[in-house]
Amino acid sequence: MKYKLLLAGSLAAIGFISLMVSSVNAREAERVELATAPIVAEASKNKSEEWSRYYPRQYSSWKKTKEGDEIKDMLKDKSQLAILWAGYGFSKDYNAPRGHYYALQDNVNSLRTGDPVDAKSGPMPTACWTCKSPDVPRIIERDGELEYFTGKWAKYGSEIVNSIGCADCHDNKTGVLSVRRPHLDRALISAGLPTFADSTHQEKRNLVCAQCHVEYYFKKTEWTDKDGVAKVAKVVTLPWANGLTAEGAEKYYNDIGFSDWTHKLSKTPMLKTQHPGYELFKTGIHAQKGVSCADCHMPYTQEGAVKYSDHQLQNPLNTMDRSCMTCHRESEKTLEEIVHRKYERKDQLHELAMDNLAKAHLETAKAMEAGASDEELKAIREHIRSGQWKWDYAVASHPAFFHAPEETLRLLAVANESAMNARLGLVAVLAKHGVTDYIAPDFSTKEKAQKLSGVPLENLVAAKLKFKATLEQEWYKTAVKNGNLNMESRKDVDVKSSFYR
Ligand code: HEC
Ligand code: HEC
Ligand code: HEC
Ligand code: HEC
Repeated sequence: MKYKLLLAGSLAAIGFISLMVSSVNAREAERVELATAPIVAEASKNKSEEWSRYYPRQYSSWKKTKEGDEIKDMLKDKSQLAILWAGYGFSKDYNAPRGHYYALQDNVNSLRTGDPVDAKSGPMPTACWTCKSPDVPRIIERDGELEYFTGKWAKYGSEIVNSIGCADCHDNKTGVLSVRRPHLDRALISAGLPTFADSTHQEKRNLVCAQCHVEYYFKKTEWTDKDGVAKVAKVVTLPWANGLTAEGAEKYYNDIGFSDWTHKLSKTPMLKTQHPGYELFKTGIHAQKGVSCADCHMPYTQEGAVKYSDHQLQNPLNTMDRSCMTCHRESEKTLEEIVHRKYERKDQLHELAMDNLAKAHLETAKAMEAGASDEELKAIREHIRSGQWKWDYAVASHPAFFHAPEETLRLLAVANESAMNARLGLVAVLAKHGVTDYIAPDFSTKEKAQKLSGVPLENLVAAKLKFKATLEQEWYKTAVKNGNLNMESRKDVDVKSSFYR
């Protein structure tokens, strides 16, 4: 009986949904506000507070991304990660995403960006700023894209000082949606897709997010500057030439022999997935029905006679009445339960894949210790590389379990298969070298896992705190002096991190 009721409810909902989806297009007509858009001064457009007097509602809702302030230490939550990323920055520090208000500060605070002492010290390249601030396109337009992508991260510490804001998604003269990061159009063209300018309005409501919520790598590019100096840039590039799929990107990387790092324990040449949120979303039912990121994450909000897009980008389950109920008929509670069940299904496969991959790394290290050669481990390492890529692709954009449930589960199943193939091979190799009773050590807490992968956490934190007390402070002083930063816009931005709360 319960199921019959559910079925009837679902059928009614589907009919209603079809109606609503067609009305997505009708919303085009409601966008009148922008026709009379005032011009925000060119020189100050990267400071979002300069837009507030013209667009107070969008500004104040944008500012509320400050409320998404919880630090969730993923290495604590899923300790396997510190094994999977041994020898790579992510094994030091990795948190779940927070509100856009913190994007820039979280990048500065991450132990991954280290503790530079001047503009030339490492460890990371300038490219690491790319999806954090509207100052990035400002520098690209001022210095040229290749110059921007050349040098160490600290080179632009005093320039890139405003977190994700209006000028990342809007043109300051017309107010319309716009993107100023050249890598997006290049990627769309490489995939045979229309550029941003040629895309439909509904697709632009996805593509503004796809400037950042995508998979990418740093492409090494040799160039010569105007003074004839030979330089090497690391250019943010999206691996879309074989299509926007996990397999397409994997082939792209394999064809150019690319790896992000060599795994510290298993010596496997690894790939790190970034966050293919847009790509995965496109495989899901909502994208296929023409629903865009903004429909759920920036729902229309009525304030008196004025209707505007809520700019508080957050988890839409917090705003279900405006984000979901415009299309769905089941109760909020029922819909939320459906979403939660999707999460649980994903999490079960997620844990299995991580456990098997982590054990494959540790067992490979053991085989090396017992005398196994690179030749004997070649096929095993290929399984590990491919499996970890697929696992990471499925989960690196955390909510893909909701945006694209089938694709997420498919990738996790394939990842698990690869990990098991590696482990089967390892049983034979280990036995050949006389090891028959090896059991991988316990990595069930962040501390244990980081110890196994050799992360000197205390030293990293101490060095970071020193950087924060010195060079970071200089950056803000310089930025204020040069008119690029208003300290008020950084209010309370730096009170939480994985190492102080
Ligand atoms: C300029 C790059 C950039 C653009 C453009 C961008 N994002 Fe983000 N987004 C980020 C980064 C970086 C984070 C993580 C910030 C952090 O953890 O400090 C993030 C975090 C988020 C979060 C998590 C918020 C929370 O409170 O947990 C959501 C949701 C989100 N983005 C959605 C979107 C949507 C939807 C769009 C397009 C309308 C978009 N983003 C456009 C870079 C971007
Ligand atoms: C991550 C991208 C993003 C950022 C950052 C952003 N917007 Fe928007 N904004 C959008 C999207 C998407 C829409 C919906 C546009 C549409 O469908 O035409 C929108 C719509 C608008 C509109 C049109 C009216 C409305 O509410 O739908 C105005 C005005 C606007 N934004 C102002 C701002 C201001 C001011 C800021 C900074 C405080 C800002 N936006 C930051 C993506 C963004
Ligand atoms: C049909 C509605 C819907 C659409 C469309 C949608 N999302 Fe989401 N998104 C959600 C829901 C629901 C969650 C939270 C799932 C959960 O974790 O419980 C979420 C979570 C997120 C998060 C993580 C937030 C966090 O704090 O962990 C990001 C980032 C995000 N979405 C980005 C995007 C981007 C980018 C697009 C477009 C390419 C998009 N979303 C399209 C509903 C949607
Ligand atoms: C603009 C309309 C629209 C909005 C907004 C929307 N949905 Fe949907 N949703 C759809 C359509 C259309 C389908 C596909 C139904 C079908 O055709 O069978 C769907 C399907 C679903 C499904 C089943 C899909 C699957 O993968 O199993 C879930 C769950 C769901 N939506 C949850 C949500 C949640 C939660 C929100 C708000 C965060 C939301 N939707 C917002 C239109 C929408």
